[in-house]
Amino acid sequence: MALIEVQNLTKSYKTFKRKEGLKGAFINLFRREYEFVQAVDNINFHVEQGEILGYIGPNGAGKSTTIKILTGILTPTDGKVTVNGLVPYKQRQQHVKNIGVVFGQRTQLWWDIAVIEAFTLLRDIYEVSKTDFQEQLKKFDEVLGIGPLLHIPVRKLSLGQRVRCDIAASLLHNPPVVFLDEPTIGLDVAVKSNIREFIKEMNASLGTTMILTTHDLSDIEYLCQRSLIIDQGKIIFDGDLQKAKDELARERKIQVDLYERVDIDGIREQLKIAKLEFTRRNDYSLTISFDKDEISAIDIIQKILDHLHPRDIKIEEPTIETVVKEIYQKKSF
Ligand SMILES: Nc1ncnc2c1ncn2[C@@H]1O[C@H](COP(=O)(O)OP(=O)(O)OP(=O)(O)O)[C@@H](O)[C@H]1O
Ligand SMILES: [Mg+2]
Repeated sequence: MALIEVQNLTKSYKTFKRKEGLKGAFINLFRREYEFVQAVDNINFHVEQGEILGYIGPNGAGKSTTIKILTGILTPTDGKVTVNGLVPYKQRQQHVKNIGVVFGQRTQLWWDIAVIEAFTLLRDIYEVSKTDFQEQLKKFDEVLGIGPLLHIPVRKLSLGQRVRCDIAASLLHNPPVVFLDEPTIGLDVAVKSNIREFIKEMNASLGTTMILTTHDLSDIEYLCQRSLIIDQGKIIFDGDLQKAKDELARERKIQVDLYERVDIDGIREQLKIAKLEFTRRNDYSLTISFDKDEISAIDIIQKILDHLHPRDIKIEEPTIETVVKEIYQKKSF
């Protein structure tokens, strides 16, 4: 059995439909109308021990809802979930000792107390020994620079400072399963890169299993060999995005800078290769687009060197964003 099993999971929210205006507010008092939002719609997946799974999708796709069910905060409408053999929403107390959770959009720390007091409370809740606790604090200070923040009340921290403390808090007890819902939101580039390294290191040295939700696809590219894409509550992709990039994003671009003015018709005539698309970038530069499965970049570059006098040539690889956009548009892959 996999470490995380999700079977036919469905979650719909019942929401109160509010009528507008004063008259509407009055009607609301007596006649309540409800509507249902199908946030997660019959999804299936599993995560093996030691995997870092990327969980991506547009706003409102159902990512946080899934994470909330996996962490035991929400009960599903239908379907079955197990994490480490436990049903999160039924065996909450046992479950929370095994997991760490970061919701970047919302703090899990107590608003009015200083960071160190919150950490000490968590130390007691999770029964972390004093020596382990000191060691963890030292490690988190090196990676996340939380040392100077320890005596500040949580409510006075900036977004990035707060997220750093939240990450430390959720990992204090070295949990075997970690859920990271937008953990790098609001972080500056240096801290972000530290956190990425830290996640990678934690996974490699302790075999921690992780699910990572983020809108920053470079995090996914760096950390996840496998990703799920969810859209309108349904899983539309399950696999390796790097492989998908090779199969899906076939368009390649070569940027050519010239010494003389760009003459598209003249260049097309000189290169004599069918199925190329030329676009002028400016007076001295153009882009040649082609399908990598139809023509090789080497052949095109060879012709460019033979017939034009380029000042510079750059090949543009498709980005992971292009691939994800393509999958969103196709709605399945
Ligand atoms: N408590 C709630 N009551 C009613 N509807 C909700 C509730 N929480 C979420 N929803 C709705 O469920 C859908 C999925 O929301 P969810 O928060 O899971 O999306 P998400 O993928 O995490 O999006 P984002 O990238 O913006 O964080 C959305 O349409 C949202 O409006
Ligand atoms: Mg979310």
